[in-house]
Amino acid sequence: MNWLNRLLGGARAKGDSAAVAHVTPATTTAPKPPVDWSDAAAWDAYHAATKLPAPISPIELGLQYVPAFREQRFRRVWFPGAGTSAAPRAFAQLGFDVVSTDFSAVAVEAQERFASAPFTVDLSDYGEKVPTKLQVLKHDFRQPLDLPPFDVIVNRRSYQGLSTADQATAARQHYDALRPGGWAMFETMNVQGDRRNILEDAIGAAGFSLPLNRSHRWYRAELAKTGLRFVIILGRARIPGPNPSAAEQERLDILTKEFAERSGLEAEEWASRTSARTDRVAHMVYSTG
Ligand SMILES: C[S@@+](CC[C@H](N)C(=O)[O-])C[C@H]1O[C@@H](n2cnc3c(N)ncnc32)[C@H](O)[C@@H]1O
Repeated sequence: MNWLNRLLGGARAKGDSAAVAHVTPATTTAPKPPVDWSDAAAWDAYHAATKLPAPISPIELGLQYVPAFREQRFRRVWFPGAGTSAAPRAFAQLGFDVVSTDFSAVAVEAQERFASAPFTVDLSDYGEKVPTKLQVLKHDFRQPLDLPPFDVIVNRRSYQGLSTADQATAARQHYDALRPGGWAMFETMNVQGDRRNILEDAIGAAGFSLPLNRSHRWYRAELAKTGLRFVIILGRARIPGPNPSAAEQERLDILTKEFAERSGLEAEEWASRTSARTDRVAHMVYSTG
């Protein structure tokens, strides 16, 4: 894992060679996540073969969440299924009290090395605080995590590939690990259409509140009914391509306008609910790439 050595300023650690033993022969194609997401050994092989992009962008570190977390006065953060991401380390560097877990031994080893080595990414734009401890644990997030409750859980792309049964179990464990009023961020990659509804249903069934979910689901359903090909750019559905049909774009814009009105009303409804402050809130973050 040369990328890890680079990130940690060249520090070497025991276990490097053990990790390299899992590496599949060098190919030009990027390693693919396992088909069966419950296979921890397959995740080991995947992580050992994965290269971290360089340089590491703020988005890769999840730093876009920092202002909101500080505004909410969140301090205790759990990164379940952290993989070989440097995000938990970055958050610890910024003064958050971080627990990083994964059920892959290779991922845990990478996280342990992050926890004990100097960190070389410049975080000065994010108001560095006194760095705190990063606790790293081997843990299967379908099982209870026996720790004090968290203010916020940041599940970054570690949920979407679970089987339906595992999604239900994992969502409940996330819910139980969070304090009332806390947030769980569920980041996904390339999850579209009905698959979004399935994820959200499992998360809602675990007890989470999903703010603005009603209007988002309405918008998705109405866009699908048009039968048009579209992309969402900055929250607006657009007909792709250099010469979009004005009539088709108009149809989408009517829906986008109604979506804005519906979500405004839903946001007001949410803000006026006194229990909203004690709900455990799930924020769905959908990305494509
Ligand atoms: C696609 S990777 C994402 C890794 C990291 N969060 C990131 O954003 O780079 C999914 C991660 O979830 C972990 N994972 C999958 N199922 C898990 C489970 N039941 N318990 C703990 N970790 C799990 C895998 O080992 C892997 O590290």
